[in-house]
Amino acid sequence: MKNHRIILGIETSCDEVAASIYSSSKGVLSNVLYSQIKDHERYGGVVPEIASRSQIEKITTIVSQALEQAEQTLDTIDCIAVTTKPGLSGSLLVGLNFAKALAFARQKKIIGINHLEGHAFSSCIEYTVPFPHLCLTASGGHTSLYLIRNFGEYTVLGSTLDDAAGEAFDKIAKMMKLPYPGGPLIEKLAQEVNFQDFFHYPRGSIQTLDFSFSGLKTAVMYDLVKRGLYDVASKQFIQEPTKELQQQIASSLLVCIRDIFIHRLNKSLKEFPALQAVTFVGGVASNQYLKNSLSDFCTKRGLQFFSPSRQYCTDNAAMIAFVGNYKAEQGLYSDLHLDIF
Ligand code: KG4
Ligand code: ZN
Repeated sequence: MKNHRIILGIETSCDEVAASIYSSSKGVLSNVLYSQIKDHERYGGVVPEIASRSQIEKITTIVSQALEQAEQTLDTIDCIAVTTKPGLSGSLLVGLNFAKALAFARQKKIIGINHLEGHAFSSCIEYTVPFPHLCLTASGGHTSLYLIRNFGEYTVLGSTLDDAAGEAFDKIAKMMKLPYPGGPLIEKLAQEVNFQDFFHYPRGSIQTLDFSFSGLKTAVMYDLVKRGLYDVASKQFIQEPTKELQQQIASSLLVCIRDIFIHRLNKSLKEFPALQAVTFVGGVASNQYLKNSLSDFCTKRGLQFFSPSRQYCTDNAAMIAFVGNYKAEQGLYSDLHLDIF
């Protein structure tokens, strides 16, 4: 009998189809992603109906590629880990039904995974992160702070009351007439002006570990109105925004979000002095400026800092397979009644 476990991870919670093979003894063997950014770009955001239709078309190919790249077959897989929530219902159902059909037909074990637990442990794929640690997850759909005590043991310390951090980048980028997704472009524009804070956008409440980014979008808009550059009624710039203005907004926004993140880390560390390390995960953690700023903050406090490489920051199936592996180790399997709620 073999003494290691092979997990197939499947992730379809938003606009992507991802599959990964994880070995309990060797780690990630493959990590395949089909991203539909191009299909949604012209709409300035994800269109759920387009997402799920395309996922149905792609899922078989993506899972086959993951198996092939890992030099595995369906016979060598022990267990299927699949994202069941949170996400777009139609998209989640594509991955879940595919996984259930495969589990039923090939007599495999199945485990339903919370996408956010996947992000929260994504730093542990590549690094040995000490417990307890603090995890800041920032993506297009979520912004949360977790106190992580062990694999699968965590408490939510704070989360967003409205928009996620990535959503703030995307919506403000759209306001500035930049394409979707806004985060990478905002980072590039901000770098061009050396990450200066031109407009001093409000940092919001300092009493809480929760986040609110919809107020930031409104603040950016009213700051432009005050400068005579934007018309609220038509939601249009009075004149096309110049490159210089885009750089200034982007840079001020990025510095503002950095300050909000650092404030929440500082407050958490004061409340939980036993924390050993900080992790920064999710799509927004691909931002090198934010990564460097949080890393410097941790170094000054003698804390270890970890952030996954880019392929594990944005949505991926390796993080789902990784969580599936420790859940399998704990015997936490699901059954075929598994649903997306
Ligand atoms: O984790 P992710 O791929 O998908 C979700 O679960 O939402 O995150 C996507 C988000 C988008 O909002 C995108 O604008 C943001 O991550 N993002 C960035 C950067 N790269 C991606 N935000 C800031 N700076 C970046 N370099
Ligand atoms: Zn995500």
